[in-house]
Amino acid sequence: MLEARTAPVPATFPTPILPETPSTPLKTPLGNPFAPLDTFARRHIGPGPEEVAAMLELLDYKSLDDLAEAVVPPAIRLRRPLELPAAKGEREALEALRAIMDQNKVFRSFIGQGYYDTITPPVIQRNILENPGWYTAYTPYQAEIAQGRLEGLLNFQTMVADLTGLDIANASLLDEATAAAEAMTMLHAVRVNPAAHRFFVSNACHPQTLDVVRTRAVPQGIEVIIDDASGFNPDSSYFGALLQYPDTHGAIIDYEKFIRLVHQVGGKVAMATDLLALTLLKPPGEFGADVAVGSAQRFGVPLGYGGPHAAFFATKDELKRHMPGRLIGVSHDAQGKPAMRLALQTREQHIRRDKATSNICTAQVLLAVMASMYAVYHGPRGLKEIAERVQRMTAHLGAALAALGYKIGHEPFFDTLRITTLGKWSAHELAQDAVSRGINLRVIDADTLSVSLDETVTEADLDALLKIFGKGEETIHTQRLLAETPASWPADLRRTSDYLTHPVFNTHRTETEMLRYIRKLESRDLSLCTSMIPLGSCTMKLNATAEMFPVSWPTVGRLHPFAPTDQARGYQTLFRQLESWLAEITGMAAVSLQPNAGSQGEYAGLLAIRAYHQARGEEARRICLIPVSAHGTNPASAVMAGMKVVPVACDADGNIDIEDLRAKADEHAGDLACAMITYPSTHGAFEDTIVEAAEIIHSHGGQVYMDGANLTAQVGLCRPGDFGMDVCHLNLHKTFCIPHGGGGPGVGPIAVAAHLGKYLPGHAVIAPGEARRTEGAVSAAPWGSASILVISWMYIAMLGAEGLKAATQTAILNANYMATQLEPYIEVLYRGHSDMVAHEFILDVRSWKQSAGVEVEDIAKRLMDYGFHAPTISFPVPGTMMIEPTESESKEELDRFCDALIAIHGEMQRIASGEWPRDNNPLKLAPHTAAVVSADAWDRPYSRELAAYPAPWLREHKFWPHTGRIDNVYGDRNLVCSCLPMEAYQAE
Ligand SMILES: Cc1ncc(COP(=O)(O)O)c(C=O)c1O
Repeated sequence: MLEARTAPVPATFPTPILPETPSTPLKTPLGNPFAPLDTFARRHIGPGPEEVAAMLELLDYKSLDDLAEAVVPPAIRLRRPLELPAAKGEREALEALRAIMDQNKVFRSFIGQGYYDTITPPVIQRNILENPGWYTAYTPYQAEIAQGRLEGLLNFQTMVADLTGLDIANASLLDEATAAAEAMTMLHAVRVNPAAHRFFVSNACHPQTLDVVRTRAVPQGIEVIIDDASGFNPDSSYFGALLQYPDTHGAIIDYEKFIRLVHQVGGKVAMATDLLALTLLKPPGEFGADVAVGSAQRFGVPLGYGGPHAAFFATKDELKRHMPGRLIGVSHDAQGKPAMRLALQTREQHIRRDKATSNICTAQVLLAVMASMYAVYHGPRGLKEIAERVQRMTAHLGAALAALGYKIGHEPFFDTLRITTLGKWSAHELAQDAVSRGINLRVIDADTLSVSLDETVTEADLDALLKIFGKGEETIHTQRLLAETPASWPADLRRTSDYLTHPVFNTHRTETEMLRYIRKLESRDLSLCTSMIPLGSCTMKLNATAEMFPVSWPTVGRLHPFAPTDQARGYQTLFRQLESWLAEITGMAAVSLQPNAGSQGEYAGLLAIRAYHQARGEEARRICLIPVSAHGTNPASAVMAGMKVVPVACDADGNIDIEDLRAKADEHAGDLACAMITYPSTHGAFEDTIVEAAEIIHSHGGQVYMDGANLTAQVGLCRPGDFGMDVCHLNLHKTFCIPHGGGGPGVGPIAVAAHLGKYLPGHAVIAPGEARRTEGAVSAAPWGSASILVISWMYIAMLGAEGLKAATQTAILNANYMATQLEPYIEVLYRGHSDMVAHEFILDVRSWKQSAGVEVEDIAKRLMDYGFHAPTISFPVPGTMMIEPTESESKEELDRFCDALIAIHGEMQRIASGEWPRDNNPLKLAPHTAAVVSADAWDRPYSRELAAYPAPWLREHKFWPHTGRIDNVYGDRNLVCSCLPMEAYQAE
């Protein structure tokens, strides 16, 4: 047991001495007496001046600048400050952003098209969306300390499977359009006829879905046929079809025959659908559909000018192993208690790389949890009431409009009316009139509009709509008519099956119960609220409260993504400023904010490279060189972009083997499209050869894609655009402080050099960018997850050039400090320029397997007993762990984490010496739950105290893992992906 801070420091370490004038990032404003005192750098950056000085002393550097000089190769160093606005105080930045976002006009939007206003129950808004206990958690890889969000996601899966009438659902996808594209890819992968290459898409799908599906299909060699579903006559050249139900114009069509016909030719059918409508409508599964996709946005997730929202994906049992994205499954822990975990991970890009089922890495966990909680709160009865209200209002509006002489689509409808003006008025005129009254309608063509209602619609809204369409004609009083309007549709389209029967959806009706349920789940998860999460390659830095505040502003949250752009002037200013700042930070010419994740950024960037080669008549360039150390999303994205992956070796130091790169570039001189390089490398090192690598690729006609997941080590010190990179993505959810949300949302913009600017993603509804871009969309919304861009804006505005640079330097300092502290105990695997690590480093624990039977996973689980989340394990090198402390952690916290690892090292020595058996020791039996430690029986060769309180700080604050070690193999063999009956938990 540790006595106190510090673990034995090797005698060779010099005692830290404070320099007289410590070089620190924390300047107090001098000169201007009105300069804000709420400066942000000192809140964001963990170590204070004395700590920085002590750490520098240990590393033998005089200042942070000296350290950065040593770490970043001279050839790529930025020798001037970034040109960014001066740092603002927290309040000043909030006021500046408020002034920008106040330029937005929050109109009532009845545009629909996949996005609806919704009432976020305040108990969910405050306790999930605005609660760092939920939003600062990471993807639940360490399941024992992630049971809260895993339960939220299991509820989401259960809800989706129930409502769609299908067997199994995943834990969310990025948006409805990409979910539809994923459905196409999956159906293509499982086609029975290898020659089938056509995919039918109903022309009544949302336009953004058509756009994204088309973009995805081209590189895959899939021919997309977009047409009217009613006349479709499938043949064996079709492997599948996509329908919208209710369709984009609101029509509800019986697709049973359509699906039968497609099945007869060996194809499969996906239906894009709406969860609220499915509380009343016959679900896709009961039509025989093979897949259902859609957006869960209207289940309490704000519009946010396009996102983030959780999409869903459900399918039949027989297709579950081909499903894209994350899947939560139920298994049991070492004591036999039911426990949840990520299931079937072998499908993922980390393992299958270019053969992965998809490159979804970041899902939309926070939003999926919100949507599932909306269903938990309302329950099946509440949801049905909401749906019936929407339907009744729509029916009433339809009847009133018909009485005014408009033609309403003849099919049954749920929330959307297709209104034809019959030449009486122009659709544009009506829409203009609506805008003048603060209302947005959807214009379909010169004579047709549509109106979509949602749960927020009031009597005043209906009155206003009737006034607009009445054009001065007297309209009938709404309340009376509403009460009289029947809300129903033909029996064969009516839902008769039950849904959401599980107790979780039927017990939390009051706010008290709901609050306690949310807080109970939250308490099971280890987030940044508890301790540092040093996940290498994931950059779990502070997500500051001031950065998060604006997400809740109505001027940010309540805009429909397809509202006229002159209502979104605030957003346009935000985009322009953020794009220009990111361009300056990366040294690139143009930026697209559309991609919803780093992996989607990779895909968008590779599409830009592909389009560039095509435009030059060089479409044969399809080879993508990727170092073997690359993240699995790189090869997966390359394949999605229609490229062929050729691996490049790494040398003994983990660096790109430059001779192998040259040889492969030579070999593919005629068909080289690009190389994808992560920089600093996934091994946590600034490689000296980056400029040479870029020259080799360029001299063979290729482009260089930089995976910017590690950009946090570069900001203010060097810029990819200056050292030969042509395109890079940025993970705003890593470097630029968007919280990980327990596994999403993410934002993965791409920055490109000037020659690639015109190949950035476009959009079928609103083209982003000055020049109208002709490329297809990669996301459903033109600016992707627009509402969380305010977070990154705040971060940059509050730090300014100097603060950003200091953050980078401190991230590097913290990593090198930890590497130096830990190296006497555990080997640091790779070092880069000047024998230093960058912002992260790998610890090699592989030898302990032989000497003590300890594997990296055992260390990860034991860290939980010490109150910590494990570092990234087995990436990029199997059997090792990668630590990334970030700049936000104080020296005290770094020391605590080092102490924990050093203490675990001591425990491993006790196993190696034979004091504890290899299969009965605190590592193998970790984590230790309260139930295990307090059980009457205890027959282990170590004490209960060592099990649960192995370090002094735990007496002050103990985080108890909710479950013991979870059995992964059992979980995958006995796949259960929806809520278990309550008895299963009670029996335990
Ligand atoms: C090096 C690297 N590249 C790409 C990605 C993919 O990013 P995202 O999870 O945002 O899709 C990651 C994610 O962890 C990464 O570490």
